[in-house]
Amino acid sequence: MAITAKPLPAGFGIEIDGLDANRDLSDADRTMVLNAFHDHSVVVLRNVFMDDDSQVRFSQVFGEVEVSLGANPSSGTKFSRQSNIDIASGGLIPPDDRRMAYQKGNYLWHMDSSFKQRSSLCSILSAREVPPEGGNTEFCSTRLLYESLSDAEKSKLDTLTIEHDIRYSRGLTGFKYTEQEAKNFQTAPHKLVRTNPHNGRKSLLIGIHAWRIAGWDDEPSRQLIDSLNARAEATGIYSHKWLPGDVVIWDNQATLHRATAYDTVKYRRLMQRTTIALP
Ligand SMILES: [Fe+2]
Repeated sequence: MAITAKPLPAGFGIEIDGLDANRDLSDADRTMVLNAFHDHSVVVLRNVFMDDDSQVRFSQVFGEVEVSLGANPSSGTKFSRQSNIDIASGGLIPPDDRRMAYQKGNYLWHMDSSFKQRSSLCSILSAREVPPEGGNTEFCSTRLLYESLSDAEKSKLDTLTIEHDIRYSRGLTGFKYTEQEAKNFQTAPHKLVRTNPHNGRKSLLIGIHAWRIAGWDDEPSRQLIDSLNARAEATGIYSHKWLPGDVVIWDNQATLHRATAYDTVKYRRLMQRTTIALP
């Protein structure tokens, strides 16, 4: 099958069809998919139907796969499970269960693992069970945001470090870590402005885990972070409607993403995410 590619409609992102990502990629295919990722920030692969083993193998094309932490049901493995299906019983998790409360944080714009000391290059999410309606994943580009800034704004932002903390962001949706879980995390300082080493294009590391700007008072710090998050969204949203077999790769240095709601009492949803650490 020939490989075809078409740009997605929001000014970033590309959809590729015909790439067999379940087998070891040829050098040409590796180069193609890596270039697509660096140039377009979001890569949608259709009709892949990936399993766990092939997802780990494919993820290693991008770098080192993180081990997940904290309250995710797959904590301690190479996967973060985004699902309303109980692993042990195979039945649906009740909406008031702590595991569902934890996933509510995904409804807010964020970059995966920005709260870790080593932030993430990208995430790879594969659709295993998809609800017939709802449950989209939405993206916006902090590269397009950066490129829309004035020179004065760029110079100001270039000097800033932002401290990210998931204990702050999960608190916003009312989720509480146990004392033991909270000890697994510490505040992670990151330079706000990021540069893609392949093309030199710059972006911002922001989102809901961005807690405060190092050295700034709380109020101006919160105002600037909120304003940057809102301006990123205003540059344009790509809303991905999942089909069975889809795999989406996104840049955690240059895009924000969020989950959208679905009827968790009526429909099953299982998505498996691998997260690749920044080199
Ligand atoms: Fe996420």
